[in-house]
This record gives sequence, C-alpha cells and structure tokens, in this order.
Amino acid sequence: MSGDTPVLRVQGLQRRFGGLMAVSDVDLAVPAGRVLGVIGPNGAGKSTLVNLISGHLRPTAGAVMIGDADLTGARPWRIAQAGVARTFQIVKPFRGLTVADNVTVAVMFGPARIRSRARARREAEEVLERVGLGGKGELPPAELPVADARRLELAKALALRPRVLLLDEVLAGLRPAEIDPALRLIDELRGEGLTLLVIEHIIQAIAAVSDEVLVLHHGAVLTQGPPDEVLGDERVIEAYLGHRYTRKSGS
Ligand SMILES: Nc1ncnc2c1ncn2[C@@H]1O[C@H](COP(=O)(O)OP(=O)(O)OP(=O)(O)O)[C@@H](O)[C@H]1O
Ligand SMILES: [Mg+2]
Repeated sequence: MSGDTPVLRVQGLQRRFGGLMAVSDVDLAVPAGRVLGVIGPNGAGKSTLVNLISGHLRPTAGAVMIGDADLTGARPWRIAQAGVARTFQIVKPFRGLTVADNVTVAVMFGPARIRSRARARREAEEVLERVGLGGKGELPPAELPVADARRLELAKALALRPRVLLLDEVLAGLRPAEIDPALRLIDELRGEGLTLLVIEHIIQAIAAVSDEVLVLHHGAVLTQGPPDEVLGDERVIEAYLGHRYTRKSGS
C-alpha cells in the first residue's frame, strides 16, 4: 500500500494485560479508499487492535495516527470526532430505543451533529435501508436475530459518517446468501473513499474485499501483503487454518 498517504496508521502498537501481550509491536498503514483485512486465530489480538485504534483501550506502547493527527491514548469520543467509527464484536445497542432511534441518535450526536430530528431520522432510514434493515426500524434491538443485530452495529457506525471504519466480524452469523450483499456494501463504501479495517474469520470474504491482508498471531504481525500472497503463505495456513486444512490437503 505504498505511494499514498495513509489515513490510518499504527506504529509499534502494544497492549499488555498482566503477563499477556495481547498486541505486540504492530505496524500498519491504510491509505484512503483501501481495505485492510485482518485475520488470525481466536485470541490473536484482533479485537484488541480495534479497541486500541478506537480509544476503547489505551496502548502500553506505540502510536495511532489518523491522517496527520496523533491520537494515541485519546478518548473514544475524540477519536470518533476525528472520523473513526467501529462496530463491536459483542453488539451494543441502546436497549430502550427502537432500531431506528438507535441510528438517529448516532446521526444526531456523532461528529456530523445534525440537530434537526426529522433530518437525522431521514438519514437514519437511509442508512438502515443501506445495511439491509429497511422496514425493521420500529423493532426493539432485542428482537433482532444475530445477523440483524450486526447490521445495526454497522448502521450505527455508518451514521457517524466516518472516514475510517473498523469492522469487527460484522459478517458473523450471516447466512451464505447474505454475505455477498454485505461484501458489496463494503466494496461500495471503499469506492466512496472510506478507509476500512475489516476483521473476519471467513477467508473467502476477506480475500474478496481486501486490498491487503494482515495476519495476527499471538498479538504480533505474522505477515502482511496482497490477499493471494498472504493466504497462500505456508505459515499462515499452518497458524490460522491449522491441522484441519493440513490434513485435508494432505489426504
Ligand atoms: N480486557 C482484557 N483483559 C484481559 N485480557 C484480555 C482483555 N481483552 C482481551 N484479552 C486477551 O487478549 C487476547 C486477545 O484477545 P482479542 O479479543 O483481541 O482476540 P481476537 O483476535 O479478537 O479473538 P476472537 O477471534 O476470538 O474474537 C486474548 O488472550 C484475550 O483473552
Ligand atoms: Mg475478536
């Protein structure tokens, strides 16, 4: 991803939990309108990486830059103001509000600060339509099946009109037929100039949407590069896909 100025840049990022190094010396740079796919086994540090970028965790070392701004250790709201939005792997809607109100609140209180409730509501409806939740605005979030709850996470993030979007397993729980439209949406957002970091376990999905793929293993970067190169790398197959793949391909 050289040649362009990165919108999202992470340098020497580290987070320790007691004796565990959850994220260890991670470097990455994503230019505008590019998608960085992040994969790695369970516990590799993917969500911790997102939490460090979004300000929900403070790094023990290293730096997070958004454009020219050094936002290392800044609070989540400041990082959101700088144009960074994220989804949570464990969904976090306001339970007392309807689906549409959840998104309307994000439109009104996000960096865009749209004061008119009617306008915010219209914008929320558009976002809901876009993520595939059209017609479900009046439901309480608790009534959404898991795939829709993840769509709501995405809608709340998009409502902030971000320039950097961090997606933590938004495709988890989608049926195979639902994955393609979700990938098309990611591609569309990329086309609109959004810079994306996409965590996903579905390798085909990552291969389809990513300009580059970064593999985390035990908190550190195992390798990073174009999807076909990275996904064909022996070390990645061994670390990430593990014995199942090795056995299958060997039989
Ligand atoms: N708040 C925390 N306190 C202590 N340990 C934590 C905390 N958050 C994460 N960890 C540990 O850090 C490591 C990385 O966790 P993380 O959630 O980032 O992994 P992940 O790659 O997102 O995994 P998954 O694919 O299961 O979502 C794990 O060993 C986890 O138990
Ligand atoms: Mg995770």
